[in-house]
Amino acid sequence: IIIERDAEGVARQVADRFESVIRHGGRFGVTLGLATGSSPVATYQELIRRHREEGLSFGHARAFLLDEYVGIPRSHEQSYHRFIREHFTSHVDIADELVISPDGQAADPVGEAARYDRGIADAGGVDLQILGIGGNGHIGFNEPTSALTSRTRVKTLTEQTISDNARFFDSPEDVPVHVITQGLGTIMEARRIVLAATGESKASAIAAMIEGPFGAFCPATILQMHPAVTVVVDEDAAGELQ
Ligand code: F6R
Repeated sequence: IIIERDAEGVARQVADRFESVIRHGGRFGVTLGLATGSSPVATYQELIRRHREEGLSFGHARAFLLDEYVGIPRSHEQSYHRFIREHFTSHVDIADELVISPDGQAADPVGEAARYDRGIADAGGVDLQILGIGGNGHIGFNEPTSALTSRTRVKTLTEQTISDNARFFDSPEDVPVHVITQGLGTIMEARRIVLAATGESKASAIAAMIEGPFGAFCPATILQMHPAVTVVVDEDAAGELQ
C-alpha cells in the first residue's frame, strides 16, 4: 500500500509499474489490463508523456479492457471502447486492433462475455491489470454480492453505480443498466494488479477492501487473496485506514 500526497503522485507510482512491466516484458510482448473511469486517467496522461518525452514504447503490448456497457455503440462517447482510445491508446504506439474490449452490441451478450473470457486466457493472461474501485467496493463492474470466482459475464449495475456514472451522461436515464465485465475470478488471474484511488469518496471502500472482512459484500476484498497487488492512494482516499 502506497500513500501519496496527491493524485499526481498516485499517477506517477502507477505509471512506474506500467513502465517496469513494459520495459522488462519478454520479446513476445506484454498484455496490459486497462480500466476506464476517472481514476486511471492521470496515469494514462503520465504514460503518454513518457511515450512522447522519454521514448517509452508500447509497440510490443496488447491490452484487454475490464468492461463495456451493453447496448451503446462503440462510437458512443461513453463507450469504453472509445474512452480508452481517446484517453490513452490512440496517443501511444500500441496497435489499435490489439486494444480489445467486449462487444457491448453483440447479438448474444452472454456468449460474447464467455468468448471474451476465453480470449484473455488464449492470449496468455494479463501481465499487469490496473483497477479503480467503486464507492461500493466494486472492481470492474462486479457489484456487491458478485460471486468471488465469477468469470466475464453480463451484470446489472446497482442504483449507486448508475448515479455515480450519471455524471458522464446527459441524464441518469441514459446510463446503460447492463454491462459486460471481467469476473472477479478473471481479474484474479492477472499476474500483477495495481489499484489506484483518489479522493475522499473512495476512503470507505479503500478501508473496507484492505481492513474489512473478506466477502462478496465488498467485492474488492478478493484482492486480499492475490499475491501481487499494489494499492496506490492519495491521502484523502487513505483517510479511513486504521
Ligand atoms: C472501469 C471500472 C470501474 C471503475 C470504478 C471507479 O473500467 O471497471 O470499476 O474503476 O467504477 O470509477 P472512477 O474511477 O470513475 O471513480
